[in-house]
Amino acid sequence: MSAAVAQAHAQADAVVAPEVTLIEVAAGAMKNNNYLVVDPVTRQALLVDPAWQRDKLEAALQRAGATLRAIAITHAHFDHVHLAGELSAAHDCPVWMSQREIETSGFDLPRLLAIDETPRTLGALRIEPILAPGHTPGCLCYRIGGHLFAGDVLFIEGCGLCRDEAAAHAMFDSLERLKRELAPDTRIHPGHTYLRGPGVPFAELLRWNMYLQFPDQRSFAAYRLRRGQDPRKLVAFR
Ligand SMILES: [Fe+2]
Repeated sequence: MSAAVAQAHAQADAVVAPEVTLIEVAAGAMKNNNYLVVDPVTRQALLVDPAWQRDKLEAALQRAGATLRAIAITHAHFDHVHLAGELSAAHDCPVWMSQREIETSGFDLPRLLAIDETPRTLGALRIEPILAPGHTPGCLCYRIGGHLFAGDVLFIEGCGLCRDEAAAHAMFDSLERLKRELAPDTRIHPGHTYLRGPGVPFAELLRWNMYLQFPDQRSFAAYRLRRGQDPRKLVAFR
């Protein structure tokens, strides 16, 4: 292979770093982190879990000079899909959700696109959907060039709620998979903020996120489902 061809291959394989903008949106007590992810080469963009405040999201798109090309949904809970239909119609773009989430939630929209873990491209960005069941049966995280958009799978200080023992076991397996597959410097961007804001490297979570410390499904589930949890604190988003 000539040096020029080798260089072209290296460039094609290079991971382009996205421009990531956090947009904090709220409706009463519900507070969510939305993310605008822009390909710096083509200015094509995707939005993760758009909800509550369309004006804020449109303003962020305008400021970035970006074209919305996809809406990436982590899971079908209402606070993560609230504006998916409206925005996908206005911008004529697909709404990505895992096949499993669609089947188990019954969620539907005209531009809904069932996806699996096949990597997707948006301009120069490579997007890797990672199935991470536990909070819901078809939760997806999206890894994009050194960033993980984690929905309600992984928070900076915790992890998402699990409805029963089987779900908690699935969540343990999902978190173990992230431990195996994520680079330590991957920036974590959850769907909600409790104390620290998004963008913390995974290596830090590995040291002090309680839910990443359990040795097996059983002990994880016993703690995740423990009695006496204050329900207000479980949704006490900052
Ligand atoms: Fe949720």
